[in-house]
Amino acid sequence: MHVAPLQPSDATRYRALMLEAYALAADAFTSTPQERAAEPDAWWVKRITHAHSVVLGAFEGQELIGTVALEFSAKPKTQHKAHVLGMYVTPAFRATGAGRALLDGLITLAGQRPGIQVLNLTVTEGNDAAVNLYRSAGFEPFGTEPMAIRTPSGFKNKVYMWRQLPATP
Ligand SMILES: CC(C)(COP(=O)(O)OP(=O)(O)OC[C@H]1O[C@@H](n2cnc3c(N)ncnc32)[C@H](O)[C@@H]1OP(=O)(O)O)[C@@H](O)C(=O)NCCC(=O)NCCS
Repeated sequence: MHVAPLQPSDATRYRALMLEAYALAADAFTSTPQERAAEPDAWWVKRITHAHSVVLGAFEGQELIGTVALEFSAKPKTQHKAHVLGMYVTPAFRATGAGRALLDGLITLAGQRPGIQVLNLTVTEGNDAAVNLYRSAGFEPFGTEPMAIRTPSGFKNKVYMWRQLPATP
């Protein structure tokens, strides 16, 4: 298994993996498979290539088995922060270190981007696998949003987590 930034040529398999994520892990994401399936291919290419985001993939051979994304802020007062989103590992490859490799790769990449000092994310309350993964990578919870999303199993709270990165000159 290796982790690498996705390229425009990965857009079709990235789309397929994320549509699987929205369907199989509905409580973990704010998007539905229906809304994202309606997006044209260009939307997925843009998500991969946008100047204010980066998307990493975990590959087993040629197969895309996991992904995570980082979004940077365009606004001067919030340019020190980046938002982690879209973390997903396909069930057959869970508990093999892919999630950790993706998150470690993203933290390294964020640290190489001048000025990024804070990473933040939200995770659905009760998603212990994800919370444990984020905690083990240095993220700490700092608040909970009640009734943050309406899921097939009812309203869920979202836990907000953050971690600092060493300041770059
Ligand atoms: C959360 C998720 C990405 C973890 O991916 P993974 O590849 O299975 O995780 P890893 O094998 O790299 O495990 C890393 C750490 O995560 C935690 N973890 C992973 N699975 C866990 C589980 N089932 N229960 C508790 N902790 C778990 C552990 O701390 C683990 O470290 P350890 O192996 O030293 O105990 C995966 O379960 C997933 O895709 N879930 C559905 C989508 C989702 O919830 N995304 C998060 C959105 S915020």
